[in-house]
Amino acid sequence: MPGVTETARADHPTATAATGIADATGTPADPPVAAARTYSPGLEGVIAGESSIAYVDGAAGRLLYRGYPIGELVEHGTYAQVAELLWTGAWPAHAHLPCAHLPSDVAAVLRLIPPSTHPMDALRTGISAWGAGRGMNWPPTLEQARALTAIAPSILAAFARFRQGLEHVEADPQLDLAAGFLYQLRGERPDPAAARALDAYFIVGAEHGFNASTFTALVITSTKSDLTSGVCGAIGALKGPLHGGAPSEVVDQLSQIGTPEHAEAWLRDAVARGERLMGFGHRVYKAYDPRAAALRKVAEGLSGMADWLALAVEVEDVALRVLAELKPDHILKTNVEYYAAAVLQGVGLPPDLFPATFALARHAGWTAHCIEYAATSRLIRPDVIYTGPEERHLPAPAPVARPKARGPKASGAKASGPKAPIAASPRASGARGPKVRRPKAS
Ligand code: ACO
Repeated sequence: MPGVTETARADHPTATAATGIADATGTPADPPVAAARTYSPGLEGVIAGESSIAYVDGAAGRLLYRGYPIGELVEHGTYAQVAELLWTGAWPAHAHLPCAHLPSDVAAVLRLIPPSTHPMDALRTGISAWGAGRGMNWPPTLEQARALTAIAPSILAAFARFRQGLEHVEADPQLDLAAGFLYQLRGERPDPAAARALDAYFIVGAEHGFNASTFTALVITSTKSDLTSGVCGAIGALKGPLHGGAPSEVVDQLSQIGTPEHAEAWLRDAVARGERLMGFGHRVYKAYDPRAAALRKVAEGLSGMADWLALAVEVEDVALRVLAELKPDHILKTNVEYYAAAVLQGVGLPPDLFPATFALARHAGWTAHCIEYAATSRLIRPDVIYTGPEERHLPAPAPVARPKARGPKASGAKASGPKAPIAASPRASGARGPKVRRPKAS
């Protein structure tokens, strides 16, 4: 497949793998292996591990969590059950996962964050503050995973209220995560249909194999760092618009398009300018994303969304046609973010909370993978093709003119003449001077 894998550029004179040049730490590189190795930009198509958590069948548009199809889980399960399934591998008949109490030290940190902070940054900061106070040591455990997943909605809801000058609402232990999040955001128990729709969104967002944010968490776990650090890194990776930042951009896209008649021209112009149509395309799915199909059904059941959905469906048809025509070499279908935007709007969340809400859902998958990976615990450390200059040497130092010996200066007169070289410290020259502490190399 073009662009998927290329034979490593072993002919590059300075490629580490081809030459065995030592790296910056002086460690000799692997011995030359010539053309046997492949290079895949963006790690596309590279198998980087084994997992029994989810199966993403990109060609057929199937997603299974521990063997169960996503559509069935959305229809018959709850996020609490799905999270337990991801963590333990067993389907629990019942499960309850309430939001956790927000400790005062974490609330204090959230109050210090400027109200204009991106909610993903606030969530990452809050999780980091929470982990700092709780010492989550390696290896990651089921209890740590549950605790992190349960605190995240309380952190995000608290920040969303603090930035409006409102007080935090204490978590309700009777409510499950999605309902509890809406309750802590608004201070009133949510409408059951909205709570159920958000729970369905959480199920769909819970897990997706070795995506960019999960892989980030695994890289961190592989160094035997703590689970909180893994989750903080994952939130950072999810923040980007190519990953979890897309649904709010879907809303912008549709509001700019405005009416179905404008769709064709708007979408063609955007693709001609080299822009991405938000909510379309996926690294793995080359068929309709099954999560998009599940969320479209959920959105259709929400009141107040009919007009927005009607526009979304018409724009989707045009976008798929335009993409097929203008990008004939690529299969670009609707992805999960397109209808995620509908559900999140339908439950009344402001668009700037969409990516962070996605992060809340993905906590189950991130932490499940970290627990699974910790059992094998192989440090993730890929190689790189070095494209810099050949080994070379610094120019010979310019000769330094020695200062001429002088007699005693008149007091108040300024010293003149060439400066002594930096390396020639008072100690080196035998003169007494203050002891200089040198920073330790890290
Ligand atoms: N709109 C227009 N063109 C697209 C789109 C899109 N949404 N997606 C891919 N393409 C085009 C690219 O321009 C490129 O064309 P070219 O070869 O003519 O330059 C070609 O398809 C291949 O693109 P890549 O970037 O190689 O595809 P990749 O697999 O890396 O991209 C991604 C996947 C990042 C999701 C991409 O499809 C995209 O940017 N989509 C829009 C953002 C989005 O919806 N993100 C959410 C993804 S779902 C999730 O992460 C939960």
